[in-house]
Amino acid sequence: MTVRRHRIAAVPGDGIGIEVTGEALKILAAVTEAHRLDVEVTSYDFGAERFLRTGETLPEGMLDTFRTFDAIFMGAFGDPRVPDMRHAADILLGTRFHLDLWANERPVRCLSDRLCPLKAFRASEFDFVIFRENTEGLYVGMGGNFKKGTPDEIAIQEDVNTRKGVERIIRHAFRAALRRADRPGAARSPKVTMADKSNVLRFGHDLWQRVFREVAAEHKEVEANHLYVDALAMQMVKNPCQFDVIVTCNMFGDIVTDLGAQLQGGLGMAASGNINPAGVSMFEPVHGSAPKYAGQDVANPFGAILTMGMMLEHLGESAAGLAVEQAVRTAVDRGRCTKDVGGALGTRATGDAVASLLGEGA
Ligand code: NAD
Ligand code: IPM
Ligand code: MN
Repeated sequence: MTVRRHRIAAVPGDGIGIEVTGEALKILAAVTEAHRLDVEVTSYDFGAERFLRTGETLPEGMLDTFRTFDAIFMGAFGDPRVPDMRHAADILLGTRFHLDLWANERPVRCLSDRLCPLKAFRASEFDFVIFRENTEGLYVGMGGNFKKGTPDEIAIQEDVNTRKGVERIIRHAFRAALRRADRPGAARSPKVTMADKSNVLRFGHDLWQRVFREVAAEHKEVEANHLYVDALAMQMVKNPCQFDVIVTCNMFGDIVTDLGAQLQGGLGMAASGNINPAGVSMFEPVHGSAPKYAGQDVANPFGAILTMGMMLEHLGESAAGLAVEQAVRTAVDRGRCTKDVGGALGTRATGDAVASLLGEGA
């Protein structure tokens, strides 16, 4: 049997992004060995340090080069020395836009009761996924300033919602709900919750409403419901068990996925994929560069490691992806983890613990 080679581009980025990517790549190496995969990693030093040194965020043509890989893994971006995040706009948002990574998939699954912050629920009682539209909305960077820096300043930031963009992410959410209901042992019937702010954003989010109703009508077997995004935030804490698939716009998705991260034990636990179903996808943990923890060997690498598991699954290496998730679960159960999730290990020792669990086939 020939083994398919996976060519991965890795961009650790800034701050703790560098440390957690190091651990995720350690796990990739361990799982490659344990599952006899063929993986080739090319690392790039794009980030604040390089930008400050050279004035360049990405070399000419790099976004096209990313397209030649099978997948991209990124750590996190953000450095106090680049307060306007100019480099991240080019590297992170540039990749999302240029590669048309329109579906940002952010699962919300808590791996242990110990990590569940809700006193009324057990970790195993909720398991849902948030699909965030990833290429439009307030993120497109349209707008401008007039009379900047004067008392008469006007600042305009446009919220761009296209029929094509809204429809494809909503359809994707319905397909995902059907796929989830088809999983062996699936515990629930398919449901899609769309969250918007159509009570205020009368043009853009009216489009979301109309498209959602249309697509829901084509999927009678999927329960479809709507929540305003403020109520969604409340319901995610009040009763997360009600959710299966949530779909929302770029900005709201950014916000509620941090809330979703906390339902999993914190930002250090949350995984994410930036997916182009017809192209090359990019994987990065939900968290940022946490500058105050940078370089101290304290950052939790599980979010990045689980993200690596998601990437493997996406590449068709389901057994390897599952093994990574199982090893993290075991490490959490055994308290082989960082302080933020109740352990006493550093970032590197936590990665080592997961790697050795993978080696044991745990
Ligand atoms: P952050 O996610 O970096 O950190 C917020 C807090 O969450 C941290 O102070 C820490 O308490 C906790 N945390 C996050 N990740 C953790 C981990 N792996 N282990 C343990 N604790 C963890 O968010 P922020 O402080 O708002 O932003 C810092 C910088 O990161 C900013 O420049 C921001 O723009 C950027 N950012 C980048 C990304 C990205 O590149 N994908 C995502 C979010 C924020
Ligand atoms: C995320 C981050 C990014 C976003 C920032 C760093 C641009 O918060 O991936 O969640 O807002 O999308
Ligand atoms: Mn975010």
